Amino acid sequence: MKIERKQSVVLVPCPYQGHLTPMLQLGSILYSQGFSVIVAHTQYNAPNYSNYPQFVFHSMDDGFQVIDISFPSLENLYSMNENCKVHLRDYLVTMMEEVGNELACIVYDNVMFFVDDVATQLKVPTIVLSTFSAAFTHSMITIFPQPEKYFPFEDSQLLDPLPDLHPLRYKDVPFFVINNTVPEAALEFHRAICDIGSSVATIWNTMQDLESSMLLRLQEHYKVPFFPIGPFHKMVPLASSTSLLEEDNSCIEWLDRQAPNSVLYVSLGSLATIDDKELIETAWGLANSEQPFLWVIRPGSISGFQCAEALPDGFEEMIGERGRIVKWAPQKQVLAHPAIGGFYTHCGWNSMLESISEQVPMICRPIIADQLVNARYLTQIYKVGIELEVIERTVIEKTIMKLMLSEEGKDVKKRVVDMKQNIVAAMQIGGTSQKNLKDLIDFISVLPSRLPPPTPVVGAIMSSNHTSSKCIRES
Ligand code: UDX
Repeated sequence: MKIERKQSVVLVPCPYQGHLTPMLQLGSILYSQGFSVIVAHTQYNAPNYSNYPQFVFHSMDDGFQVIDISFPSLENLYSMNENCKVHLRDYLVTMMEEVGNELACIVYDNVMFFVDDVATQLKVPTIVLSTFSAAFTHSMITIFPQPEKYFPFEDSQLLDPLPDLHPLRYKDVPFFVINNTVPEAALEFHRAICDIGSSVATIWNTMQDLESSMLLRLQEHYKVPFFPIGPFHKMVPLASSTSLLEEDNSCIEWLDRQAPNSVLYVSLGSLATIDDKELIETAWGLANSEQPFLWVIRPGSISGFQCAEALPDGFEEMIGERGRIVKWAPQKQVLAHPAIGGFYTHCGWNSMLESISEQVPMICRPIIADQLVNARYLTQIYKVGIELEVIERTVIEKTIMKLMLSEEGKDVKKRVVDMKQNIVAAMQIGGTSQKNLKDLIDFISVLPSRLPPPTPVVGAIMSSNHTSSKCIRES
């Protein structure tokens, strides 16, 4: 049956894999509910249009043709927010002349906080998408009002609990830490991504049942409707690839030849980098554990090296058929494969949701930001992951054996099987994610197509100042 699409939704994703993926998945969910979907994206890391013929795409000139923004530094993220303002505004003005009141709202990734200013000026309602866990956002908004209560800290405090943030320790502070303190610029940036401005609601790639207490606390803070409708990758009716890198599908044939629950999948996500010393310790830990493994070594992920050439000489020959190394895997398919018995992960939020959804227990090796919070929840609250305490070959070997072979590993597996059942329940008709999705659709459908005139804003959207106007308003 052909659906008559009356309302359009404009999506503004942040152009890094772990952010682009959930936004495109959300687009597919909204499309399946009868909305037209327009994706306004940066030229950098543009999505593959052919995977989404049902969407309309608009490329914003981000000015990054000559700058390397492969790492999302604060400077790069602020520039992106500044550069895209005029392009988004001009595009929306033209589009609104054409579609008029059919534009229901803009949904933007909270890292693309410039959208709030543009939308406020044009009086278009916005909804913020958080691609992070509620626990991470909660940790940030708890620290912001009194950073002096947390920083600077002493080396001796690293394993002490962070006040009001159980189960986090000082070593899990989810910001960029230098000399045991967090630079003001880093705090300021995170304040900007936590500020939802005049948005009328927030969407979360999480489950109400999984993060209920955090979501409740956040809702008290933000005072707008919350729609936790995750995990998106399972709520999408028809999954299309969202990968920015080419997936090496040959690893699936290799997995087909392995015994059930025998393989450790190793991946540190789309952004994290490690040094060659860690690569070598990981290689020996994997080799000495004698467990089969599938290891993603992403190009550029080893500082100072192109790819896997920093591996010990003769490593791949020595491992032979027992191990497989690829540059990028079809991760969701890998995790769903019956041969996979564990996931050695950096604890990115997407990876964590994908792993729990396929009942795969984890070894947690967080690297930056939200990953530190996610790892603590995995190991201390949900108890479906084992912490890798030291990056050293014997510890890596023992931790792999613990997860894959020990009684403790079996208990971890049982808990993740139970967690998966909760996800299945949330996604069924009457489940929380389904119910919240229905509420979200009803909410968007009745949004006033034009908001009342905004109150004057300090820091107009045309400002060429590199600080976001949202930050200016807050100060
Ligand atoms: C970072 C943050 O850590 C994360 O929490 C935040 O929400 C987004 O940015 P990233 O390093 O991209 O994340 O990790 P993650 O959130 O796990 O996302 C990585 C995505 O890439 C996953 O969807 C995963 O399936 C995919 N992937 C990874 C592949 O498809 N193939 C691979 O080989 C590796």
